[in-house]
Amino acid sequence: MSTTGLGFSGEVADYYAKFRPGYPPPVIEALVHRLGLTPGHQVLDLGCGTGQLAVPLSEHVEHVVAVDPEPDMLAHGPKRPNIEWRLGSDADVPGLGRFDAVVVGQALHWMDHERLFREADTAKFAIIANGTPLWRQHPAIRELLADWFGRPMTAACGTDDVARQRYADALEAAGFSPQEWTVSYTHEHTIEELAGSLFSAMSPKTLPSPQDRPRFQNELRDALRAGTYTEPISVTVISTS
Ligand SMILES: C[S@@+](CC[C@H](N)C(=O)[O-])C[C@H]1O[C@@H](n2cnc3c(N)ncnc32)[C@H](O)[C@@H]1O
Repeated sequence: MSTTGLGFSGEVADYYAKFRPGYPPPVIEALVHRLGLTPGHQVLDLGCGTGQLAVPLSEHVEHVVAVDPEPDMLAHGPKRPNIEWRLGSDADVPGLGRFDAVVVGQALHWMDHERLFREADTAKFAIIANGTPLWRQHPAIRELLADWFGRPMTAACGTDDVARQRYADALEAAGFSPQEWTVSYTHEHTIEELAGSLFSAMSPKTLPSPQDRPRFQNELRDALRAGTYTEPISVTVISTS
């Protein structure tokens, strides 16, 4: 197990790869259209995780450089002839080269976004928020997590309006013309999938022990009083033209 200290190592990476909803085709098609991507283009996916954006985008462009500081996340990236999985972070930009577009999915809150927008050698950016964290959606999920962890669950992970406005302002200050747009849909999770998605948002230190996970799952089912959870997802994108 690696230890970047970021919390995406070991089993958390496994849960991320297996249970975190990626981006459905309408989001990828809109991204390709808005960024004007063509089969000759080079794209940087920064904070690529296990490839939620890199993999579908690789179908539309010549080459994707998929960068993440967590080797356990990269280890889940499927081998594709036109995806280069690289260990690194936003601190490595602009040394990673020149790109037609830089995409950042649900990861900008870990980065120095002002420096990134100023220094990246790219024609365009897309900053993507994959919905809102589950604990901000449903009081029963929020209360269950607060009980397990003994503290309120409030983190918005860069998905809230204040953060989005800050990102748009910083893009403008760096000379880009940002526009925000949204693709909304629903995703039905079984309770097992929902628990897995929640585990993927924890860190190896806060993940319930393997013996406690069935209890967590049962408590989640009881709290929601249902065997499934339909998540309303609005993927919100700030892209530049
Ligand atoms: C929530 S995941 C997002 C993964 C994927 N892009 C998605 O849309 O689902 C956040 C990722 O950002 C990575 N990350 C954290 N700090 C970073 C940094 N400074 N530069 C680049 N990536 C970073 C983490 O290792 C993690 O894989």
